[in-house]
Amino acid sequence: MSTLKESISILQQEIASLSLELAADAEQFRLKYLSKKGLIPGLFDQFKQISADERKETGMLLNKLKQFAEDRWKDGLSLKGDNSASNAKKLDYSAPGIEFQQGSRHPLSIVANEIHEIFSRIGFTVAEGPEIEDDWHNFSALNFPVEHPARDMQDTFFVDKDPDIALRTHTSSVQVRMMENNEPPLRMIMPGRVYRNEAISARAHCFFHQVEGLYVDENVSFADLKQTLLHFSRELFGAETKIRLRPSYFPFTEPSAEMDISCTVCKGSGCNICKYSGWVEILGCGMVHSNVLKNCNIDPEKYTGFAFGMGIERIAILLYKVNDLRYFSQNDLRFLKQFKTGW
Ligand code: DAH
Repeated sequence: MSTLKESISILQQEIASLSLELAADAEQFRLKYLSKKGLIPGLFDQFKQISADERKETGMLLNKLKQFAEDRWKDGLSLKGDNSASNAKKLDYSAPGIEFQQGSRHPLSIVANEIHEIFSRIGFTVAEGPEIEDDWHNFSALNFPVEHPARDMQDTFFVDKDPDIALRTHTSSVQVRMMENNEPPLRMIMPGRVYRNEAISARAHCFFHQVEGLYVDENVSFADLKQTLLHFSRELFGAETKIRLRPSYFPFTEPSAEMDISCTVCKGSGCNICKYSGWVEILGCGMVHSNVLKNCNIDPEKYTGFAFGMGIERIAILLYKVNDLRYFSQNDLRFLKQFKTGW
């Protein structure tokens, strides 16, 4: 037996008897046997010197030893969770993957964005105002009489008991800011959060969201209001949607109306969503009261305007058939995950 063959067999036994239990063992193993200056490459150096007739057999044994040592080293690494060397061997390609949790838009954002898009296509811009508001913008400029119940402690959250500073009760306050600071023509929608001092239930909440609309220019008429809202309703709820305007009262509009749409669920034939009337109320609207125009330094002899305001939750409830307002603010992923529209 040549000395090289002997050396191979000794190393083979030595390697077989080793136990690699730590990552450090595997690394030491590699350094001792496999690295450039290690024992196995050393045997390959000796191999160059042996006679031609021994080469075939010894070469085979040497290659086997090298393969054996590499396998042991890879096993040692993977045991320690370091899969860099033997990934291919250990991976189970049929195992289920790790699910990637993709975020999604909040349903109220989806609805608000849809409303923005519809109005921006007909020339409305988007504006915002503060949530902490003074009496002037939230009430007085909007022609609320001093004794109006909405100013009452029961409806309004006042800040620091100051009767002049409150959380806005509606986005109509932003109308005032826009009219005060801009010259007509004005054509904008104003989305935002509003607050009312109400007990939380399936049908009411102490905060919710509204979108306000305002159009002020020369010769704006109630017909413009009606057509704009019809267009909006058809875009949002479908081309077959009908609208109905009922006379109503708001201090800041004259005349005022509330608008119903034909029920999106039963299409007007009667169901429990529309309480068997075929119609559901979605917004308040009217022609901007001349007092409001005056309060904002707009000449009511020259300009007229229409305004409207709607609750975003209410629209979302109709579009998605949600039966409890509280879902929108609980951030329960089981609820939120159901609204995947891409953006
Ligand atoms: N601000 C009213 C509310 O919160 C909604 C509203 C009604 C807004 C009529 C308007 C409007 O702009 O013209 O109930």
